[in-house]
Amino acid sequence: MSLSSRHLLGLHGVPKEDIQLILDTATTFREVLERPIKKVPTLQGKTIVNLFYENSTRTRISFELAQKRLSADTINFSTSTSSAKKGETFKDTVRNIEAMKVDMIVVRHQSAGVPNYLTRISKANIINAGDGLHEHPTQGLLDMYSIRERLGRMEGLKVCIVGDVAHSRVALSNIFGLKTMGAEVSVCGPSTMIPLGIESLGVKVLNNIDEAVANNDVLNVLRIQLERNAGIRIPSLREYHHYFGITRERIEKFNRDIVILHPGPINRGVEISSEVADGPYQVILDQVTNGVAIRMAVLYLLGTMH
Ligand code: CP
Repeated sequence: MSLSSRHLLGLHGVPKEDIQLILDTATTFREVLERPIKKVPTLQGKTIVNLFYENSTRTRISFELAQKRLSADTINFSTSTSSAKKGETFKDTVRNIEAMKVDMIVVRHQSAGVPNYLTRISKANIINAGDGLHEHPTQGLLDMYSIRERLGRMEGLKVCIVGDVAHSRVALSNIFGLKTMGAEVSVCGPSTMIPLGIESLGVKVLNNIDEAVANNDVLNVLRIQLERNAGIRIPSLREYHHYFGITRERIEKFNRDIVILHPGPINRGVEISSEVADGPYQVILDQVTNGVAIRMAVLYLLGTMH
């Protein structure tokens, strides 16, 4: 079994069989992560560069750890310590890195479309680790894995993506992936944070958070992206928390089992209360653990393709 593409640029158009294969392969690697020696020789001899032009904690460490667990040689590039600071263009940087014979490039960039552009200027396998407001496919995959792990399936589940959908690449990857896997997907947030016409992706729009809590199996709670100036779309963070924040009272009002995801980093007391972020409904740190297994699966499946 192999994937239908040699790159992972997004989950838009990725066939169900590919997503299934990645999730099932991740289950095998999830078991490896529980062993005393958490390492397999699968990608020995492969060289992978992590090209991060934008800040990251989870994704960067998770990819690096996944590469080390698979015995690949890894190189970490960050703009602040590179010759990009001296004015070197992105294309020249990539060409120079490629001349050192790298097999795969994991890229995070503030501009949408950069991973796609890389496929045209590089022979390496390209993995998108988040590009602008476009997609974050490994986050979408680890979210789906965590939902399946907790609820046993995705088909027929009701999943609502809550909050700053307009600024979220996580939202798009979730929508594409979850719909392909047969889930019913909705979005909920202030109308200023819901892109016009998002219904054309086959999602329902809710503006009332109580309705979202009452009628869904899963809430994927998004961060208010203050660094992308999301604050101008709401009167205040306090008001946002009042109307859309996920709190224990809100969940328990409807007295039902619900699974709470959050991609991190969290704004405690804004989109989610600390009580929920650390409480029994959430799977936030399971998502982080599962992220390593998902990234191992993606690296393995792309790195061993012929
Ligand atoms: N979820 C996520 O992408 O987190 P980082 O920005 O820390 O990688």
